[in-house]
Amino acid sequence: MPMVIAMAGKGGTGKTTLSALLIHYLLTNRRTPVLAVDADANANLNELLNLKVDLTLGQIRKELKNDIPVHITRDQFMEMKVHQALIEENGFDLLVMGQPDGPGCYCAANQHLAMTMDKLAANYRYILVDNEAGMEHLSRMNLRRIDLLLIVSDPSARGILTARRIAELTGPLAMEVKNKYLIVNRLPEPTPAELMARIEETVAAADLPLAGTLPDSAVLTGQELRGESYLTLPADTPVVQAAFRIFDKIIK
Ligand SMILES: Nc1ncnc2c1ncn2[C@@H]1O[C@H](COP(=O)(O)OP(=O)(O)OP(=O)(O)O)[C@@H](O)[C@H]1O
Ligand SMILES: [Mg+2]
Repeated sequence: MPMVIAMAGKGGTGKTTLSALLIHYLLTNRRTPVLAVDADANANLNELLNLKVDLTLGQIRKELKNDIPVHITRDQFMEMKVHQALIEENGFDLLVMGQPDGPGCYCAANQHLAMTMDKLAANYRYILVDNEAGMEHLSRMNLRRIDLLLIVSDPSARGILTARRIAELTGPLAMEVKNKYLIVNRLPEPTPAELMARIEETVAAADLPLAGTLPDSAVLTGQELRGESYLTLPADTPVVQAAFRIFDKIIK
């Protein structure tokens, strides 16, 4: 059974950044194979990994609604297409969910997709899901459980309270969430003592364990601007070190 790790958090807090750093971590530590799923309608995890996306699951669902070649079943068609959509890299594969379904009934297509995803998931040691702020995609992927939900927040008391609300929202999801942690991102360095105290105070009240913090890092901004893969960031980069320390602690 793969370990399923999913990102959550308000828009722009750093979910995709952390996803890319987590893939870096898993590859560096040879905890492979990894399936990375970009579940954001505006997919952009591929950009941080410098990969090109040709086919998304959303496009496949649309195709499946139409006529498919007569000589294969819908399940075979779905399986073939999903493998076509899979971007295969060294140690990990990337799958992009793409746009949500348009009007019309996609129930059958989603059922086929769920079955295919089940079969696919069994091939991996880790499944990492980069989400948009909402978590609707998770149910469509037919994941029954999340082993680790990482909720990313900006470094403010209000941001952390929002993170807590997001953590509470996972209650009604039709899946089991085993562990949840908060990660506070983009901490200014040096961190003003009042800010750190405020963060700690809010974290304690939020009843959401703090896995750690990440510094605001010009290295990340530069890497993104140059369009270079985060996977090439040296392990001694402070923000990479901070991320790896967090993952060491929470990923068994
Ligand atoms: N620690 C950091 N240091 C510097 N810049 C950062 C850091 N974390 C994130 N950023 C920048 O903030 C922006 C938003 O980050 P990111 O795309 O990871 O957020 P997100 O939560 O995935 O956003 P969305 O909700 O739109 O998917 C990006 O330009 C990213 O480079
Ligand atoms: Mg994102």
